[in-house]
Amino acid sequence: MNKNAFYSIAPMMGRTDSYFCYILNLINNEIPIYTEMMHTNAVINSKKISEYVYLPNKSKIIFQLGGNNPEYFKKAAEIIAKLGFKEININCGCPSSRVQAGSFGISLLSNPKLVRDCADSIKQSTNLAVSIKTRIGVNYVSNNNILDNFVNEVSKSGVKKFIIHARNAILKDFSAKNNLNIPSLNYDRVYKLKKDFKDKEIIINGGFKSFTDNSSVLNKVDGIMIGREAYKNPWMFLKRGHSSDLEHFEVRKKIMLKYLLFLSKCFFKTNFNTVPLIHAQSFFYMLKGSKEWKRILSNSLKTKKLECLFNFIRYNKEGYNNEIKI
Ligand SMILES: Cc1cc2nc3c(=O)[nH]c(=O)nc-3n(C[C@H](O)[C@H](O)[C@H](O)COP(=O)(O)O)c2cc1C
Repeated sequence: MNKNAFYSIAPMMGRTDSYFCYILNLINNEIPIYTEMMHTNAVINSKKISEYVYLPNKSKIIFQLGGNNPEYFKKAAEIIAKLGFKEININCGCPSSRVQAGSFGISLLSNPKLVRDCADSIKQSTNLAVSIKTRIGVNYVSNNNILDNFVNEVSKSGVKKFIIHARNAILKDFSAKNNLNIPSLNYDRVYKLKKDFKDKEIIINGGFKSFTDNSSVLNKVDGIMIGREAYKNPWMFLKRGHSSDLEHFEVRKKIMLKYLLFLSKCFFKTNFNTVPLIHAQSFFYMLKGSKEWKRILSNSLKTKKLECLFNFIRYNKEGYNNEIKI
């Protein structure tokens, strides 16, 4: 089994933006990562999409779209295809009140015909693959019908990959944040979906914490998607293990240097932007030097300059005081 192909990183608003995708790609360029959701209208009308222009390797980055209008999906897909992406993922799982009010995200689980039309629309105008991310059900209903009907109908447009967050969305009683932890996960429902739709690629999501230790899941589905834990500790995806903390530290420094060079280029074209530095806050997570790094990073955020970060990275480790010495 190709472990890198079995795992993927979940779309997360405010987290898997173009910059975090870039970091992940430096850590492991074989793991697919899904971008934070962008609404079709935002792709068509705003400049936000231009952040993705600078990303070098888009074959492992899957663009997640929200929306419910086939015509807008078509227009957005044409723009996304031009940027070099190979796949669009349609968000049919977000339970936030704003998304519900806009009748997309989780609302689409009950409207498979519309999702099929949106997928058809993307496929008619581009060569992009289309995948879906949704949940096992809505509110407290526990029968299989809603998800089975959904997969049956959407498959008619040729969609083969379904990512399933293994919990229902509870629409009125809980916020979007609470919906990430409540109700409890039901992996068996996802395993059953795979048994019933053997020819579909079924990826399970929800509650996975490591890049190993998932042997009980391996033969039951086609992949595992990791969200929050991947953001907290993207280092679990490093291609080659490193035995000592010192080796880890050196590898992370090299990756950070590449990231800073990338940011310098981006900021040259646009303006200084604090968001990509927020992703770097826990870059030395679990290693000595992490505290010092965070201090310097907060200085960089205040001064809006990258020099102090470059200095931290370029300094010989012995050149640093005891706090950073490993
Ligand atoms: C901060 C945050 C933002 C999220 N944004 C999205 C999103 O834009 N699109 C989406 O489909 N899911 C989104 N999710 C849900 C995740 O993709 C994933 O389904 C969920 O976190 C469960 O996986 P986990 O237990 O591995 O974190 C978000 C989750 C978090 C924590």
